[in-house]
Amino acid sequence: MLLHPLSLLLLALLPSALADVTIYTTLTTSAGASAATSSPAAYSGLPAFDPTTIDAPAPPNPPQASTVAITLYQGGMDGLSIPQQGNLLGFSVELSVSDTIIGKNGSVLNVPFLNYLNNIRLRAGVGPILRVGGNSQETETLFPSGLPDGGELDKINQGTNANGVINTPIINFSPELLYVLANVSSLVGAQWYFGLAFNDTSADENALLVAQWAQDVLGDNLVALQLGNEPDLYGDHGKRDPSYNISDYMTDFAKVEGDLMAAQGVTRKQTLVGPSICCNWQIEDVLDAGYLSQFSSGLAQVSVQHYPANNCKLSGVINPVDIFPSYLNHTAAQSFVAPYVPAVPEILAAGKPIVMLETNTASCGGFLGVSDSFGATLWTIDLALQLAWANFTAVLLHTSGTSVYYNPVTPPPGNETKTKQWNTGSSYYAMLAVAETFGSSNLSQIVDLETSDSSIYAPSYAIYENGAPTRLALFNFVSDPTGANDYTATVTISGGTVPSSVNVRYLLAPSVSEKYNITWAGQTLSPNGAQSSDGVLHGSLETQQIACDTTNNLCSIPMKAPSFALVFLTTEALQLSTPQADGGESLSFVPTATVGGGATGIDPGVLQTSNGGVLGGGSGSTSKESGAVPLAAGGWQGAGSWATLLLGVFSVLAVGW
Ligand SMILES: *[C@@H]1O[C@H](CO)[C@@H](O)[C@H](O)[C@H]1NC(C)=O
Ligand SMILES: *[C@@H]1O[C@H](CO)[C@@H](O)[C@H](O)[C@H]1NC(C)=O
Ligand SMILES: *[C@@H]1O[C@H](CO)[C@@H](O)[C@H](O)[C@H]1NC(C)=O
Ligand SMILES: *[C@@H]1O[C@H](CO)[C@@H](O)[C@H](O)[C@H]1NC(C)=O
Ligand SMILES: *[C@@H]1O[C@H](CO)[C@@H](O)[C@H](O)[C@H]1NC(C)=O
Ligand SMILES: *[C@@H]1O[C@H](CO)[C@@H](O)[C@H](O)[C@H]1NC(C)=O
Ligand SMILES: *[C@@H]1O[C@H](CO)[C@@H](O)[C@H](O)[C@H]1NC(C)=O
Ligand SMILES: *[C@@H]1O[C@H](CO)[C@@H](O)[C@H](O)[C@H]1NC(C)=O
Ligand SMILES: *[C@@H]1O[C@H](CO)[C@@H](O)[C@H](O)[C@H]1NC(C)=O
Repeated sequence: MLLHPLSLLLLALLPSALADVTIYTTLTTSAGASAATSSPAAYSGLPAFDPTTIDAPAPPNPPQASTVAITLYQGGMDGLSIPQQGNLLGFSVELSVSDTIIGKNGSVLNVPFLNYLNNIRLRAGVGPILRVGGNSQETETLFPSGLPDGGELDKINQGTNANGVINTPIINFSPELLYVLANVSSLVGAQWYFGLAFNDTSADENALLVAQWAQDVLGDNLVALQLGNEPDLYGDHGKRDPSYNISDYMTDFAKVEGDLMAAQGVTRKQTLVGPSICCNWQIEDVLDAGYLSQFSSGLAQVSVQHYPANNCKLSGVINPVDIFPSYLNHTAAQSFVAPYVPAVPEILAAGKPIVMLETNTASCGGFLGVSDSFGATLWTIDLALQLAWANFTAVLLHTSGTSVYYNPVTPPPGNETKTKQWNTGSSYYAMLAVAETFGSSNLSQIVDLETSDSSIYAPSYAIYENGAPTRLALFNFVSDPTGANDYTATVTISGGTVPSSVNVRYLLAPSVSEKYNITWAGQTLSPNGAQSSDGVLHGSLETQQIACDTTNNLCSIPMKAPSFALVFLTTEALQLSTPQADGGESLSFVPTATVGGGATGIDPGVLQTSNGGVLGGGSGSTSKESGAVPLAAGGWQGAGSWATLLLGVFSVLAVGW
């Protein structure tokens, strides 16, 4: 790793207020980069960091076919999706943990999280999409003049219900939370969905206030405001009368939408996203109730939320080993998406994009060994691509606290902020792969090539741009170290010829059970296993060049079991998916100073300018590797350029050269 010379200077000049600098590289363990298999009894820590793996399903016997034939068509294909952007797969952040994930205040954004987001932006060419909300949005209250304790978010726990389930906490928050989101947008172009309380429509004054503040603070970076979270469960969950039905919901929605239309402070009227149903109602039935026409002026987008399974233990306990196979074939993505397919054209025809506002492997925390496995990585990519094929424009992976297994990213808990780094969940790799699958042209149209008709473990998709096939996404869902289930994709281009060679990036792990030894194009986020991430990719980028047989119009792409591969059919497509470093400056944010112990936070203005150079392609001087050298623990400032940022530090701390 490379330290910029100035950073050594900084260490030497650190005033005592910043003295508790932690050199993370000395704290991580060197062992355990790969499958840390431990017996379930041995681990007693938090679920989010549980290294326990489960057995991979037995490979199919006889093995799947050893070749998968793919024909692409110069000029286009039937069934292409609408043009998609590379930021399709993003984060749904539960409101109650948004402060610990994103940042406690506008001057201490979490640098690893900025890096996780920036990785997406650099591949997609547009900022990542995030949603802040979830169950906890229903009981939120904004305190415009701040919270009594000066914080940005307070959780008031409401104990457990009669079944011993923890009740959703009441959330009080201050405008600072929105400023934090705005600061993240200014650094990485993040685009936000924000939740409004819908628990009591007769008292919606605070929801309208949230709408006004969110619009004012986030501006164009606010995509939409979510009104109602899984209203089809309100009856079951005691949030409304048990008989709560679609027409009751229409009445509730109409009340708040009407108030919003009349609210003077809310300047953008077409601002809502709904119905965000998940479970008991069908989207067609909501549309049939007149949802699109009645709310055409208030609705910006249409949303659904869904998990394919749950670990709520309502009717018995599901053994992770038993459910693992149901994530590991193409039927999983198809059966998840199929129920929405008939309704999507009507929604798009009404001028509303449709989004999957919240999903993940399983609700109620996911499954140990499944949700946090490489199998979940493959499932997530296939689901996102299948939803993209069905013309969804965003798919947001739910991210909660340390008591769940499915988080794409998890910060160190409060007692470990000085000793541990972030935990990269297996599903985070899906965000990188999906971003590169679409790249940055905004023109990528996707089609399911239906190779799963011959093997459900070998689905594939093609990307077309301007009528030409430019990328191929290939899966091998089988885990088989013997090689008997490896296959070769044989690609031909009808009406054209294959290029003389293609570039291929592989997403690899030794098994679908793997949790940490996962690499995308040779790089990993977890160089030292659990809780070892700074949000930066480690290792050297490996793009494999594979020669094609132009005489026979054939490219042969080897596919290990398990793996995902992204095949670039043109060098331009490769370039449009590859992070571009203009002028060699940093592609990552670097933590600077601790904020505990009385250190002064850097003026957000400084933060902004210092990073503007990086984002805008200015004249920063950080080496690409420097992002891998987090200098301090705790909440960190974003820093794109050492030089400018250090000047900021020194001016704030009034330390001379
Ligand atoms: C932090 O707290 C969690 C949960 O209480 C515990 O599992 C973990 O061991 C603690 N870590 C340290 C370093 O004390
Ligand atoms: C921001 O949060 C940090 C960490 O919690 C705290 O030390 C600092 O005082 C806060 N700054 C402001 C301006 O609230
Ligand atoms: C960043 O957050 C601070 C509050 O902590 C706020 O004053 C500032 O306006 C924010 N910056 C942006 C670009 O929103
Ligand atoms: C709705 O939530 C607010 C904020 O938590 C709370 O004060 C209020 O009592 C709730 N109303 C209902 C009807 O549950
Ligand atoms: C929905 O419930 C209301 C009472 O809350 C009832 O009047 C209405 O008939 C129900 N509608 C349908 C379609 O079941
Ligand atoms: C494939 O996935 C589907 C859907 O999740 C599941 O029902 C089925 O059992 C899986 N098939 C095999 C052979 O594992
Ligand atoms: C997606 O939209 C395109 C363009 O309108 C259309 O041709 C295609 O059939 C749609 N796909 C699905 C699955 O509805
Ligand atoms: C893609 O669209 C975004 C807006 O969503 C825009 O900022 C960006 O410049 C576009 N990229 C290209 C290559 O047109
Ligand atoms: C990590 O996985 C790769 C296969 O993806 C394997 O070749 C390598 O040996 C593994 N590394 C460790 C440290 O287990």
